[in-house]
Amino acid sequence: MTDPRGHWSGRIGFILAATGSAIGLGNLWKFPYITYENNGGAFVVVYIAAIALVGVPIMMAEILMGRRTQLSPVGAFKVLATDRPGGSAWQGVGWLGVLAGFTILSYYSVVAGWTIHYTWLALTGKLATLAADPAVLSAYFGNEFLASGPQQTLYHVLFMALTTGGVYFGVKGGIERVAKILMPLLFSILVVMVIYSTTTSGFGEAIRFLFKPDFSTLTKGAVLEALGHAFFTLSLGMGAMLTYGSYIGKQISIPRAALQISLLDTLIALMACVIMFSIINTSGIEVNKSATILFTTIPTVLVKLPGGGLLNALFYILIGFAALTSTISLLEVVSSFAIDELGWSRHRATVTMGGVITIFGVLNALSLGGNSALTSINLIGRESTQGVFGTMDYLASNWFLPVGGFLIALFCGWILNTATTRKELEDGHGPLTGYGLWRFLIRFVAPLAVGAIIVSVILGKEYQ
Ligand code: PHE
Repeated sequence: MTDPRGHWSGRIGFILAATGSAIGLGNLWKFPYITYENNGGAFVVVYIAAIALVGVPIMMAEILMGRRTQLSPVGAFKVLATDRPGGSAWQGVGWLGVLAGFTILSYYSVVAGWTIHYTWLALTGKLATLAADPAVLSAYFGNEFLASGPQQTLYHVLFMALTTGGVYFGVKGGIERVAKILMPLLFSILVVMVIYSTTTSGFGEAIRFLFKPDFSTLTKGAVLEALGHAFFTLSLGMGAMLTYGSYIGKQISIPRAALQISLLDTLIALMACVIMFSIINTSGIEVNKSATILFTTIPTVLVKLPGGGLLNALFYILIGFAALTSTISLLEVVSSFAIDELGWSRHRATVTMGGVITIFGVLNALSLGGNSALTSINLIGRESTQGVFGTMDYLASNWFLPVGGFLIALFCGWILNTATTRKELEDGHGPLTGYGLWRFLIRFVAPLAVGAIIVSVILGKEYQ
């Protein structure tokens, strides 16, 4: 049987690939940083609530749309919206997803590229020298590395080449294979580092910081930030999960898969926090709560520990792996659009789309430079509208993903009929007792919560 689109080999293949998409810079970089900034505990509680009440239902919605139609976002909306209110206008959500994939990938890959450079710095021992003095490393990162157009371009292009390679070999032969190798490795490295962190003196304090909520420190901005991050970290709102869901068969339980993916994603994000906070607490260094903490502070702390050079290298390899399985999913959304809607072959779609995004990303790479860029590097936007780099990020995280997620929730909750959604959620699962709960969350809770992000962005008060 010829299958021009491809399929996962089975449940594990799908779960690993989807978890690979979800786990990325959002978990290892962004989450620890925003948790730190928002004073831990209470923020973590809100974040977990956002994942459970908004993230999981929307993930189920995306996967069900993909499996039902066996198409990527534009085609899926086209087919499902026929004869329904709104009709072909719903395709716009698919287009928005393609645009988001394009936009996010063009800056995400630049940051991901930094991990290649840092791994190299760690392995050659250069990082140890630089990191001996925090000021020297900061200056190196901001004034030398970021400011170097050729270096930024080189690593971005390298990372895009790896990404394109993964997608080029198809769903099973490329995407799934990469995930099956990298995800267990990533998990093992993280476990080793968590075990290591339990032996540090800062461990207890890290656990208290993360899991002892003090709700008096919680701000409205923090709640919105937790919600926005739930989208980004679960790869929701742009059709990545929809696309991955279009490669599964009827034998897979969508509710169970969505829960597993979300649990793993949350677990890894928390593990990353435990590691980083233990290390930071142990060092006693006064850490500035900056988005660049991963590239300026962490190495200075790690080098002081026994085996620090190797730990540093492992750490950046880990982040690079996590980022790669995410960039692959971003490129897959854009490529599968060309495959499904333009009738291109996978090879042509991947090389062309990968190439165009690489070129576009070079603009982002070149827009970095000098210290002013430091404040604009922020995976979930904020006021970061400086330069091309910041603008891309701001657009994608504050607009595309929440708006996409909002519309997906409305579509599955109000436009698709109950018979369709129930059947899709029960196929491969059996009678779903939680169906009523899912429907309530997707009709009311998710749109209202996401609507709050959108309104706050419009009012310009998103993160006071
Ligand atoms: N979820 C990824 C991360 O946390 C980012 C991502 C967003 C990937 C949207 C795909 C789609 O880093």
